[in-house]
Amino acid sequence: MNLSGKRGVVLGVLNKKSMAAACASKLLSAGAEVICSYLPVKGDEDRRHILATRAILDIPPDHMLPCDVTNDNSIESFFNAVAEIFGEIDFIVHGISLISSDATIDNLAELPRAAFRTSMDISVYSMLAISKHAKTHMPEGGSIITFSYLSAEALVPGYELLGVCKAALQASVSYLAFELRKSNIRVNVISAPPFPSSSAIGHTAYSGLCDAYAKKLLPAATPSIDEILNVAVFLISDLSAGVSGERIFVDGGFHNMSAAI
Ligand SMILES: NC(=O)c1ccc[n+]([C@@H]2O[C@H](COP(=O)([O-])OP(=O)(O)OC[C@H]3O[C@@H](n4cnc5c(N)ncnc54)[C@H](O)[C@@H]3O)[C@@H](O)[C@H]2O)c1
Repeated sequence: MNLSGKRGVVLGVLNKKSMAAACASKLLSAGAEVICSYLPVKGDEDRRHILATRAILDIPPDHMLPCDVTNDNSIESFFNAVAEIFGEIDFIVHGISLISSDATIDNLAELPRAAFRTSMDISVYSMLAISKHAKTHMPEGGSIITFSYLSAEALVPGYELLGVCKAALQASVSYLAFELRKSNIRVNVISAPPFPSSSAIGHTAYSGLCDAYAKKLLPAATPSIDEILNVAVFLISDLSAGVSGERIFVDGGFHNMSAAI
């Protein structure tokens, strides 16, 4: 699929293990022009910028810009900087999530309110906030995509708060798709299997989940990042012009399998 002529942004590059880094590389190799975001952290900004830029082959350093989604001014500055470089854009990839480190991961009933707020703010509200900017920066319409996990709809022990956040994210995608249809903007979510990003391997349940996928699907049937991102390219391309509000599983069919198998 050829994305020549498409310009857009990919938010959420931490390092070369990030879905956002792989996605940006994939979109660049498909011919798109891409600006990415990384999270600026006080006192560590230069190192984070270098880490994020090195994660993507052939991205110029000035196409890696800071954006902290907990701060409205930071989001606005990011999109203004993008407009200065690209003018109008055609797509936004949202690859941001955070489960607060003070969350009691496997005990939702004991979850501190602050941990819930932070996690929902970064993982869900950010999607609403960028959609507001999409209307301004994609006046001809475009495509927004985000990433989810099976824990949004099925119980996955160890992924309690993530499950709640992803369920809210997926519901947001449905409502945003309905709302933004008037601006000719499509909004979709890819539900991906576990892959070894820095966030994922920090989860105690991560390796058990990988084993479960390998056992049920056979290792070769679990999609590679490249296969997952083929769907991202499709959703950004005009070939998916009629697709919006959709949650597409790219997990080799794992979500369809019975627990008894
Ligand atoms: N890794 C998996 O197993 C897996 C599976 C399915 C879906 N996903 C989803 O893929 C997406 C990308 O995650 P990943 O696994 O690549 O992990 P990652 O840690 O590489 O990416 C998460 C990004 O969110 C950013 N972020 C956190 N707080 C932020 C803030 N305040 N402002 C701006 N950015 C902030 C981080 O800096 C990081 O770049 C997430 O939505 C994740 O839930 C991951």
